[in-house]
Amino acid sequence: MSHDLLPKIKTLFLKKETKEEQRGLLLTFAGHGTKKLQRFADIETFPNVLIYPEGMQGKWKEHFGNDQPITLELACGKGDYALGLGRMFPERNFIGVDLKGNRIWRGAKTALDEQLANVGFLRTQIDHLQNYFAAGEVAEIWITFPDPFLRASKAKKRLTHPKFRLFTSRYCNRAPPST
Ligand SMILES: C[S@@+](CC[C@H](N)C(=O)[O-])C[C@H]1O[C@@H](n2cnc3c(N)ncnc32)[C@H](O)[C@@H]1O
Repeated sequence: MSHDLLPKIKTLFLKKETKEEQRGLLLTFAGHGTKKLQRFADIETFPNVLIYPEGMQGKWKEHFGNDQPITLELACGKGDYALGLGRMFPERNFIGVDLKGNRIWRGAKTALDEQLANVGFLRTQIDHLQNYFAAGEVAEIWITFPDPFLRASKAKKRLTHPKFRLFTSRYCNRAPPST
């Protein structure tokens, strides 16, 4: 591993919010993590990625430079839907949200390469989503192929669990379609 990366590792380590996240980062370095580490460092510089940002409630219009409606793709992974929808609907903005910087890197890099100015990424825990959006700031929420957590004992981990209050929350200005 290059010595240039060591200060970056330290910075990334300190930014981790929980011991579990710090442990995950260390395991990454201990294994085959150099590429991942480079990607973590890259997304710090990408203008279309915000990492645990502060003070973003009510500021997304400024971020995108327009007042187009915002769709969130939660647990976006590499952001395939945010990218695809962004290409199809340039009159809307899309934000892919995921915890994993390595996956976000892929989507954000594609968005930059294709100059998709209406597609952005937010790296955070979905559990903390309410910290990032003001009332009515989000027009739509998509959850595409989340981890299923099939066992009943794990039901509370499903992103569709009512505890997340994703679709009834004050920051989403529209109710979901009935199923
Ligand atoms: C099965 S993958 C689906 C990825 C993507 N939606 C797709 O269809 O390719 C689940 C994703 O959810 C993310 N994830 C799971 N729980 C999360 C949470 N609480 N906060 C943020 N991301 C989460 C994981 O990092 C992972 O990228």
